[in-house]
Amino acid sequence: MKILLLGSGELGKEFVIAAQRIGQTVIAVDSYENAPAMQVAHGFEVINMLDGNALDAVVSKHQPDYIVPEIEAIRTERFYDYEKQGITVVPSAKAANFTMNRKAIRDLAAKELGLKTANYLYATSAEELRKGVEAVGMPCVVKPLMSSSGKGQSTIKTESDIEKAWQYAVEGSRGDVVEVIVEAFVKFNSEITLLTVTQRNGNTLFCAPIGHRQERGDYQESWQPANVSDKDLQEAQNMARKVTEALGGAGLFGVEFFLADDGVYFSELSPRPHDTGMVTLSGTQNFNEFELHLRAVLGLPIAEITLEKAGASAVILASADSQNPTYSGIEKIASLSNVDFRIFGKPTSRPYRRMGVALAKAPLETPVEEVVQTAVSAAQSVTVNP
Ligand SMILES: Nc1ncnc2c1ncn2[C@@H]1O[C@H](COP(=O)(O)OP(=O)(O)OP(=O)(O)O)[C@@H](O)[C@H]1O
Ligand SMILES: [Mg+2]
Repeated sequence: MKILLLGSGELGKEFVIAAQRIGQTVIAVDSYENAPAMQVAHGFEVINMLDGNALDAVVSKHQPDYIVPEIEAIRTERFYDYEKQGITVVPSAKAANFTMNRKAIRDLAAKELGLKTANYLYATSAEELRKGVEAVGMPCVVKPLMSSSGKGQSTIKTESDIEKAWQYAVEGSRGDVVEVIVEAFVKFNSEITLLTVTQRNGNTLFCAPIGHRQERGDYQESWQPANVSDKDLQEAQNMARKVTEALGGAGLFGVEFFLADDGVYFSELSPRPHDTGMVTLSGTQNFNEFELHLRAVLGLPIAEITLEKAGASAVILASADSQNPTYSGIEKIASLSNVDFRIFGKPTSRPYRRMGVALAKAPLETPVEEVVQTAVSAAQSVTVNP
């Protein structure tokens, strides 16, 4: 099969490697040359994926069987046409299109499906935001409708934060939409990603929950299995099943939840492998999240997903701008037992850019905090040099 991968970061790279292992052909696309997934694909294209015409041109040039989006910032409205042309969009045109904009997916989850979410409203001006804040209450979180990795996101604690939050959200907005969601701050005890696999001819399957910690809008460490009560897990699984069914298609989704005293809140989802799911690269499961995505995409049956180990991942970040980053401490991290790592091969670095990940695993009975500690100190042994 020929797969057109839209977005060529580290998650795409692992997906391509999984696809290569079973003889698929992949063309990797991104806005810059030598992106991680391009380094392992059969071919590549450099375009602005928000440009519908550029997207059309690449699709008609390569005539793929599958279009696999790896990021949100794509002119996903075009996907409905590609589907009509007989190309399988992964997991579905609707899933990719709805999750590109927070409004579509949030209204689907909260209004149409009745899932529990933080109270929220939308605003298209500082004045409307003020009204929204009044309605949902403080503290509250403001996010541009189109953004990811925490860009443009801030928390309002007092009235004087409102104007700043609006400005910050406008600056952090992607695309042509200047609109924000304002949602009540959920005092959660923990947050999880539930990797959910929908199959073309088979049941929806769940991976063991993944816990994670966020900073500056990006995840720092993730671990599997996360400690979740049976009741909360049931609730999360039910919500994940509902929302993925409504979006349709086959593939792996990363469904994000907050676990609070008053129950489980649906937050958002990625219709594709999730960054916190990189923990599965440590060998926690019989198939990692990229292998699961590939199987679901190709319609290959997945008999079961088994949890084999406790695992953790910790990010390796750059601290400076560089056109030619190099790495120290590789021998150190390689010498650690039960530790593995990835260096993504990104051609350039900037402060806080994710350049690699440390992976730790341990027998299932090991307290997961210990495994996280191992991953964190392993990550600290690697330095990205400008
Ligand atoms: N309503 C909320 N209450 C409390 N914390 C929140 C709320 N919304 C977001 N957060 C915190 O901010 C993080 C990022 O939010 P969210 O996932 O909505 O943004 P994002 O930019 O789409 O991130 P990403 O694309 O990296 O998943 C969450 O994982 C959570 O830690
Ligand atoms: Mg998120």
